[in-house]
Amino acid sequence: MELCFATNNAHKLDEVSAILGDAFTLKTLSDIGCTDELPETSGTIPGNSRQKAEYVWTHFGVSCFADDSGLEVDALNGEPGVDSAHYSGTRDHARNIETLLTNLSGQTNRRARFVTVFTLILHGVEHQFEGTVDGQILTEVRGAGGFGYDPIFQPDGHDRTFAEMSSAEKNGISHRSRALSKMVAYLSEQVG
Ligand code: IMP
Repeated sequence: MELCFATNNAHKLDEVSAILGDAFTLKTLSDIGCTDELPETSGTIPGNSRQKAEYVWTHFGVSCFADDSGLEVDALNGEPGVDSAHYSGTRDHARNIETLLTNLSGQTNRRARFVTVFTLILHGVEHQFEGTVDGQILTEVRGAGGFGYDPIFQPDGHDRTFAEMSSAEKNGISHRSRALSKMVAYLSEQVG
């Protein structure tokens, strides 16, 4: 069965196609002829995930899924949240981290979580799948792996940041893999 993953991120595409297996033929946006910028204007993570999937379904009529993720920090009322990718006004990860650490300076409550929402539209029927991982924001960067806020995020139950873990270890507990596992379990039921 054909399914389009509404992303232009080749790394995500590889990760998901490895997990999905042979029952699904994963199509990229360019495979279905979509070169449009997908809308991400809803103001929430689930909303943006839905917007992207609905855009592909409405304009291309292809069963598809989209994801959206972000970091929610309790002491900042859930910021950067949906603005995680460009929190500093740029898409530069180091500057986004700097902005976050500045906004949290002097704060003792460092609780935060990463959130991913996948929206699946299968033959016009929509489902959402959420994955989260809770942790703490450190006061300085540690580690060189990963991307985004990984060097300042220490997941609960661990004494290393995501950036100090191998990608296999991070993927074993990450918000994205948790949301993805839920979607894959659902898809497996659909194809028997
Ligand atoms: P996206 O929706 O998956 O593109 O994620 C949006 C933004 O959230 C990214 O640009 C990162 O700043 C942040 N983010 C999402 N997932 C992760 C992660 O696993 N590690 C670090 N930062 C992340």
